[in-house]
Amino acid sequence: MEIKKIAIIGGGNLGGAIAEGLVRSEAFEPSNITVTRRKLHLIEGLNKKGVKITSSNTEAVKDADMVFLVVKPYQVEDIIKEIRPLLNPKKILISFVAGVNLETLEAAAGEDIPMFRAMPNTAIALCESMTCLSLLPKWSEYQDTVSALFDKLGKTAVINEELMSAATVLGSCGIAFALRFMRAATQGGIEIGFGAEMAQYITAQTMKGACELILQSNHHPEKEIDKVTTPRGITISGLNEMEHQGFSSSLIQGLVSSYHKIEKNK
Ligand SMILES: NC(=O)c1ccc[n+]([C@@H]2O[C@H](COP(=O)([O-])OP(=O)(O)OC[C@H]3O[C@@H](n4cnc5c(N)ncnc54)[C@H](OP(=O)(O)O)[C@@H]3O)[C@@H](O)[C@H]2O)c1
Repeated sequence: MEIKKIAIIGGGNLGGAIAEGLVRSEAFEPSNITVTRRKLHLIEGLNKKGVKITSSNTEAVKDADMVFLVVKPYQVEDIIKEIRPLLNPKKILISFVAGVNLETLEAAAGEDIPMFRAMPNTAIALCESMTCLSLLPKWSEYQDTVSALFDKLGKTAVINEELMSAATVLGSCGIAFALRFMRAATQGGIEIGFGAEMAQYITAQTMKGACELILQSNHHPEKEIDKVTTPRGITISGLNEMEHQGFSSSLIQGLVSSYHKIEKNK
């Protein structure tokens, strides 16, 4: 199935990032991407890149082959009701909304509308997202088409829907968790002598290198850590002090707390 035109309903933080990524990927002509929101002036930057912008959701959906829903959870059902007359079994609906399951989406849109849930992160703007997808088995014929699209925007994994909340925490909130690590490391770097800009640069490239070591080798992180921890050395001394202060434990507790919050709000 060829996907030519995409409508992104809700051009906020994530919707805007998706549009940026689609343009950057060069997989779509910018003029085949339409982004909607009510405060249109906030997405004029996308328009300057050739992306169509409108405050009319129905106009955006009318000609689209794929419709991305990127609004807040409490808005989903009203917006599906608004665009429902323009949906049909030839348009794939993809919901990025955290905490709203396929059953609810199907009840709102109709059983005959092919639909997926997608959970990416804001690195989608740079085509470096981790995107988890889930679907009802009846739509498996579209899985390759949808996965192929998200493969252009980073890495993709198809997961069971029951894991979508966990994917939201680990992959989507994960951007903020990783960046808080970066901020803390930068602040430490300043205290030991670097200017803020250089401290951030060294931290960011070091984090990128650490990620590549794991992504390219698939090693357990501890295997790479063992290579830099000399007995009685400086790295193990710092690492152990971080652990005494609750480093791993606080991360795990933070993840679990975010997860409980999603599950509670469902
Ligand atoms: N941010 C992330 O990293 C991330 C990651 C994964 C999933 N998500 C999910 O993505 C969804 C959006 O999150 P977000 O962070 O991007 O929120 P956001 O920045 O608030 O974006 C939502 C956008 O929807 C627009 N909107 C509201 N009502 C609308 C309507 N009737 N028609 C068209 N657009 C409308 C809003 O713009 P106007 O007020 O101008 O209309 C707003 O820009 C959420 O459900 C969230 O769970 C977010």
